[in-house]
Amino acid sequence: MADTLTITDNRTGKTYELPIELGVIRAMDLRQIKTGPDDFGLMTYDPAFQNTAACRSQITFIDGDQGILLYRGYPIEQLAEQSTYLETAYLILFGELPTKSELDAWVRDVTLHTMLHENIKTFMQGFQYDAHPMGIFLSTVGLLATIYPGAKKVLDEENRRLQILRLIAKVPSISAYAYRHSIGRPYIYPDNDLSFTGNFLNMLFKMTELKYRPHPVLERALDILFILHADHEQNCSTSAMRGIGSSQADPYMSLAGAAAALSGPLHGGANEAVLRMLKEIGSVKHVPEFIKRVKGGDGRLMGFGHRVYKSYDPRARIIKRTADQVFEVTGRNPLLDIALELERIALEDDYFVSRKLYPNVDFYSGLIYQAMGFPVEMFPVLFAIPRTSGWLAQWDEMMRDADQKIARPRQIYMGSPRRDYVPREQRS
Ligand code: ACO
Repeated sequence: MADTLTITDNRTGKTYELPIELGVIRAMDLRQIKTGPDDFGLMTYDPAFQNTAACRSQITFIDGDQGILLYRGYPIEQLAEQSTYLETAYLILFGELPTKSELDAWVRDVTLHTMLHENIKTFMQGFQYDAHPMGIFLSTVGLLATIYPGAKKVLDEENRRLQILRLIAKVPSISAYAYRHSIGRPYIYPDNDLSFTGNFLNMLFKMTELKYRPHPVLERALDILFILHADHEQNCSTSAMRGIGSSQADPYMSLAGAAAALSGPLHGGANEAVLRMLKEIGSVKHVPEFIKRVKGGDGRLMGFGHRVYKSYDPRARIIKRTADQVFEVTGRNPLLDIALELERIALEDDYFVSRKLYPNVDFYSGLIYQAMGFPVEMFPVLFAIPRTSGWLAQWDEMMRDADQKIARPRQIYMGSPRRDYVPREQRS
């Protein structure tokens, strides 16, 4: 017998059989449940889409209860151990691990697209010296839409692939320019001899030396962090990417919107917020007092909790290991002791345990970034660079999906019923 859900409407006494496919009912099937021909039909009310699947996707699988994260079926732990960010980006975007020649071609193509149009330097000069790099990042990504007007042909598969390549290659250059602008240093052109992350470090930190040589441990650590942040299925920024892209806006416009969603402190701005929180706590001895404040409803323990993971975030475990390797090179981050104490107390405290609040990916990533020399304002940008591959893969998947239309949720209207305009002099 086919899986069905039987609903009896007590208002009319009618019974409806709704098919269950892949573990879900179709919300549109509820529309047939009406009290009469004028009734619009039953809807669901789901603020923040906590229980609504908005797409079918083959990209990322998460089991939040068991702490499992797979990209195209491959466990995040294996990718972090054995892959590189560019290889993982290829996997996420195109569905399979590349062969050696496919990978070589992909790396070469990305490398050849890292340069930015010279106009972007002039554009950057317009920002205040202390402009937040995330604001610069998303504005400059939006600007690319004006440099590549051909990107509007979003229904053309070849064209989409070209824009994907450009975006993957150019986001590190944009981010590095944003950083150099904020500290008043000249912009550095890409070095094609270096790896994706090695070149990024070069564009950020090169001074007067003829050749910048990234520290291999830091280069690899950044690559691992990029792998961990590459995709995370239908989160806030990815939903923004799909939502904007569903109107057939070009990918630069859509990605600028996704980056804006990422900038919030409850999402990609969380690692920045973690560092600010650790600084505010100031010392291990103030941790119990801070935990007490959070439990009393005054603020949140940033870097803790996740909408989906209700056991340990598997990315947090990998990051903690990476942090140890980075601190061996850079020296121990003094805020680490505060973080470890917060984690220790929170994991024993019933408030956090009963709400299933565990460290998420952002709890330790900020400490690593800081030890590597990044200012806190750069943290969300460091998230946006690898997430670009996830956003684009989700966008491309949506463009191929015959089920998708322009995103348009419904509402339950709670405002005033129809009323007549009152002339200004008659209003009390
Ligand atoms: N500190 C203290 N209490 C918390 C925290 C936290 N970090 N997170 C959730 N809670 C509490 C809430 O107050 C609520 O308590 P209540 O039931 O007594 O009202 C309960 O736990 C459930 O919280 P919700 O807000 O309903 O959980 P939701 O799933 O909507 O939120 C979120 C998830 C936004 C990540 C939240 O845990 C949070 O704000 N965490 C801090 C910010 C953060 O680290 N964000 C990064 C997420 S990972 C990422 O985006 C890459």
